[in-house]
Amino acid sequence: MAKQRAKLVVGNWKMHGRLADNKVLLQAVSQGAGSLPEAVGVGVCVPCPYLAQAQVLLNGSRVAWGVQDVSAHEQGAFTGEVAAEMAVEFGASYAIVGHSERRAYHLESAELVATKTLRALEAGLTPIVCVGETLEQREAGETESVIGMQIDAVLTKLSPDQALRIVIAYEPVWAIGTGKTATAEQAQAVHAFLRARLAAKSEAAAAGVVLLYGGSVKPDNAEQLFRQQDIDGGLIGGASLKHIDFLAICQAAVAANAVR
Ligand code: 13P
Repeated sequence: MAKQRAKLVVGNWKMHGRLADNKVLLQAVSQGAGSLPEAVGVGVCVPCPYLAQAQVLLNGSRVAWGVQDVSAHEQGAFTGEVAAEMAVEFGASYAIVGHSERRAYHLESAELVATKTLRALEAGLTPIVCVGETLEQREAGETESVIGMQIDAVLTKLSPDQALRIVIAYEPVWAIGTGKTATAEQAQAVHAFLRARLAAKSEAAAAGVVLLYGGSVKPDNAEQLFRQQDIDGGLIGGASLKHIDFLAICQAAVAANAVR
């Protein structure tokens, strides 16, 4: 029987939040997550200025926290950048790297994303490596070649041991913030492809690495997605800003765990 991986639901707040709103949201998520079974992990990736607030409000709760990007450098004259070690000082567990918004708006290359992944690992963070194709690429039949290139750039930089410690999020660019979700079958097909790519690195990574789906995940589509064989949870944008929706998605992970 295939190894049962833990489910994971992580919120990506993107550039949203204000101290007062965050307080309400974090307290509600922390309280709601308290009753979730251990087999479902929960996290939120907040804007860096709110890391200290997340640490204060989530410490000792079931909810981990993290950042949405890290610098490729350890320290130095890199104005505006945030080092992975700085996030670790505020108790962060996760760092999203290579989100499509950073690849598109900040021209991050696959090579840079790979360096950031390694940096996050070296600092003790779990990188959530995002991959995904645009609508044009999908329609041109390039989904696997684009995603293969993105993930291979990362995997070639990692030892088999390090490969085991990453999380990968498949986020089709055309499904992000658009309300258009990939069907469960479309998402599963790419996740199976990613697992096969991991297997080329190590069987242990293929069996153990948590693969998230992201792109318009909502309470009403989450369970169907999370039930798929190779989908271990979600990276949630818009719905992570509403505690009722985010917690409902966490509950969908619990329900999917029960039937998978
Ligand atoms: P939405 O859930 O808002 O589509 O965003 C997905 C995403 O980009 C998460 O990283």
